[in-house]
Amino acid sequence: MTKNHIRIKRRSFLVGLGALAGVGACTISSKAKQVNDQTQTTQAQITNVKNQKFSVTGEAPLRDRAAKKGLIFGASARYNNLFQDSKYAARFAQECGVLVPGSELKWNLLRPSLDDFDFSKSDRMAEFARSHKMLFRGHTLVWHAALPKWFENRVNRQNAEQVLVKHIKTVAGHYAGKMHSWDVVNEAIKVADKRSDGLRKSPWLKLLGPDYIEIAFRTAAAADPKALLVYNDHRLEYSKSENEAKRTKVLKLLEGLKSKGVPIHALGMQAHLGVDASKNFNPQKLSDFLKDVASLGLKIMITELDVSEKHDLDIATRDQAIASVYKDFLSVMLDEPAVTTVITWGLSDRYTWLSKTKKRPNIQELRPLPLDAQMQRKLVWNAIAQAFDNAPMRKVEYEGDGAFS
Ligand code: G3I
Repeated sequence: MTKNHIRIKRRSFLVGLGALAGVGACTISSKAKQVNDQTQTTQAQITNVKNQKFSVTGEAPLRDRAAKKGLIFGASARYNNLFQDSKYAARFAQECGVLVPGSELKWNLLRPSLDDFDFSKSDRMAEFARSHKMLFRGHTLVWHAALPKWFENRVNRQNAEQVLVKHIKTVAGHYAGKMHSWDVVNEAIKVADKRSDGLRKSPWLKLLGPDYIEIAFRTAAAADPKALLVYNDHRLEYSKSENEAKRTKVLKLLEGLKSKGVPIHALGMQAHLGVDASKNFNPQKLSDFLKDVASLGLKIMITELDVSEKHDLDIATRDQAIASVYKDFLSVMLDEPAVTTVITWGLSDRYTWLSKTKKRPNIQELRPLPLDAQMQRKLVWNAIAQAFDNAPMRKVEYEGDGAFS
């Protein structure tokens, strides 16, 4: 693609954005018009990207900028990446104040059989966190996915509660006192399953009924009284009808748990965002939802933040649009005092999970995270740094080395 063509496409992409922000359009080529039309419907909520400034003062890493405001910043990581890529590990330790294993604390990687647990990988990751004065976060004790192959044949209605309780007691007990927080239950709401309570028809629901959630939280609290216990879910960030419906069901679930005195401390919002989804970003509705959650006495954690996009435009234009999504989202989230934590799902584009799921023919590499594939800071990094620098101060929840009050 010629430089001129890129310039036209870039300009049309920005003009498309600017037009939406009332900057006024100008003549554009047919190809660029196609891109512009494509973006017209996708960028309604993003303010004028062309004028977005992502300037940041100083070189302080994200973990320090967050901690200065009583916030926590970190990321998920995979065992292999952390221990086979020393440059990545060094940058991870520099930027992150919390480490969450992307998969190593899930059933399929923790339990080779019904009677065995293998903590070798997760223990090494816990030690990495401790030795770099990071908090350690557990994901996830109960999920419908990542179940081991033996699960279906070995777990039934008669033994399901015993299997679940043993799992949580063993795993949460193994890390008792060392875990900042646990995603106790992950993604239990699925409105499309059409239950009045909105619960996902997961193996756990089929085996134990809705009570599996209360059982999980109470067992986790008994196993590790120090850990913050979190209900984690996705698709809560935008305001399409299905998102609003899900917000309603999640709130109902949280209200019900709190009304029964179930030990739950926070809502985890995964925040897998997208440039194209930004047309459904409604700051006021998001802010109202956060207030509703906070009114239950719950904290709110951003647990899996990243931003996907699917335009085959030049990198500079893509980075501007992606960073704008971070900026717009975090400015609403961090205005809510109950929001305590920002965790990205991966730290570097080199290891984003999106490469496996959102592969696109025209794009060499995806760019959803704070560091590029060469571990260099990007506009996303600036957008997050700026959000922390501009965030209101929080009551400090922990003293940096993994211990917390
Ligand atoms: O580590 C093993 C490796 O030893 C083995 O050779 C290989 C064989 O397949 O598997 C490797 O484990 C993979 C693991 O990622 C670590 O890379 C699993 O197969 C693979 O299923 C697993 O995928 C993870 C997925 O959850 C399912 O657990 C993704 O990395 C992870 O990004 C994704 O994360 C989820 C959150 O838990 C919940 N929210 C959505 C998010 C994205 O889907």
